[in-house]
Amino acid sequence: MTGKLITLEGIDGSGKSTITKSLKHYFKGKPNVVFTREPTREWTGEAVNRAINEETDHLAELFLFVADHANHLSKTIRPGIADNKTVISDRYSDSRYAYQGATLKGIIEQPLEWVMELHKGWTVVPDLTILFDVSPEIAVSRVGTRDYQTKFEKISFLEQVRSNYLKLVDMQPERFIVVNAEQPYSKVEQAVFKAVKDNMA
Ligand code: TMP
Repeated sequence: MTGKLITLEGIDGSGKSTITKSLKHYFKGKPNVVFTREPTREWTGEAVNRAINEETDHLAELFLFVADHANHLSKTIRPGIADNKTVISDRYSDSRYAYQGATLKGIIEQPLEWVMELHKGWTVVPDLTILFDVSPEIAVSRVGTRDYQTKFEKISFLEQVRSNYLKLVDMQPERFIVVNAEQPYSKVEQAVFKAVKDNMA
């Protein structure tokens, strides 16, 4: 027997964090389920957060995310799976493929594929990835941006990220469950809980 890795993905404002909270609440005290996230709470994750919050070179930012991922694998993901646990990660490698696949446009050719290639041979591929799919307009209205210029830029960036996520689903449909995150909360929650329960170790 071996554990399972389930990852939760989506653009900012997809409602992923709210559902993660209710999953955590539901599985509280269950020793066979481990919750984790990227960026991690380790110092490597703090370095990532610093890179995000300051204007950082996009390649430097990518490599910080990748370093944090390597640390995450050895500290949490591999030990959890080896211990037959169900590891649920709020964001994981697909965030890199989708987000850095957008930020590295014009810097690297075919950035999504290039970032995927960079992970090959050492990452752990999830057993299941739940994609919270929502239109960037709705997502941005949820997160709230009053500044119109910022709002417009954010929407067009998230459009690229969303289209990268959907490209990943096309590439590996067997790994993904796409949940329509524009539905009422209870419907989204129901779909996510079912997907998690059906795929646990
Ligand atoms: P968070 O809001 O889930 O804490 O994630 C922080 C931001 O970092 C969010 O906008 C998504 C982005 N991100 C990347 O660009 N690449 C990655 O590899 C990860 C894990 C997150």
